[in-house]
Amino acid sequence: SRTYVVTGSASGIGAATASILRSRGDKVIGIDLKDAEVVADLSTPEGRTAAATQASELAGGVVDAVIACAGISAPISKTMAINYFGVTELLTQLLPALRASESPRAAVVSSMASLQQNSPELVAAALSGDEAAALALGDALAAEGPQMGYLNYPSSKRALSRWVRRAAVSSDWAGSGIPLNAVAPGTVITPMTAELLATPESAAMVDKHVPMPLNSHQPPESIAHALIWLTSPENTHMAGQTIYVDGGADATLRGDDV
Ligand code: NAI
Repeated sequence: SRTYVVTGSASGIGAATASILRSRGDKVIGIDLKDAEVVADLSTPEGRTAAATQASELAGGVVDAVIACAGISAPISKTMAINYFGVTELLTQLLPALRASESPRAAVVSSMASLQQNSPELVAAALSGDEAAALALGDALAAEGPQMGYLNYPSSKRALSRWVRRAAVSSDWAGSGIPLNAVAPGTVITPMTAELLATPESAAMVDKHVPMPLNSHQPPESIAHALIWLTSPENTHMAGQTIYVDGGADATLRGDDV
């Protein structure tokens, strides 16, 4: 059995992932705002450090895999704080515990939204590692209203997918023998999308942006199984990829443009 750290373990994709892992006998150390082994707020530097420290302690210093699911999609800069810095900083802080494992792996949840219109300036600020600058840009967008504020979400996921691509081949990850990858879901049936999918009109709007010709809206387990394979010992050579598990949304929207 392996020891997994799963963020966002109290709901949706993280909860489904934790549940599958536990049912097959693996140890799961969940991190979430509540109902988790480690209760911590990944939107702040202090919260990330507390989460990494406590999770490493509970794991006895050896973490076999990290699966980062925690995220929000609100039109505010906190979305960038959680979805980008809450993932990249936590993963970096857990590197020592991962390196202590015989077959360490990490996977994060990006999104189809990483392909949507975003703010290139905000993406660059995040990738530069300057959280204060990124949050200031995110706040400025939010001040222009919810439509501009929403750019925090696709920008956070674009930055995250790009960070995965860069970090995965660095000495920290590939150099330490740790496969690092991302899964990009389409529209998953979780509390995050409950309101959007509540009426036929709003669901139709969602489907216009995220067309899913294969089996339509997806259960969180469809993402969990991909995350679990990416973080299994069987994954020896996949690095830096964003895998679209999205009912065909990426293939529909990008078509031949890859
Ligand atoms: P969810 O809302 O069901 O679960 C997210 C979990 O993250 C919650 O338990 C929440 O408490 C936790 N979380 C939020 N902020 C946190 C913080 N500051 N510190 C610690 N934990 C925090 O959402 P869902 O749908 O399971 O989303 C999981 C991931 O999947 C997110 O990163 C989301 O962006 C991504 N995603 C979801 C899609 C969907 O259609 N539901 C589509 C594409 C991506």
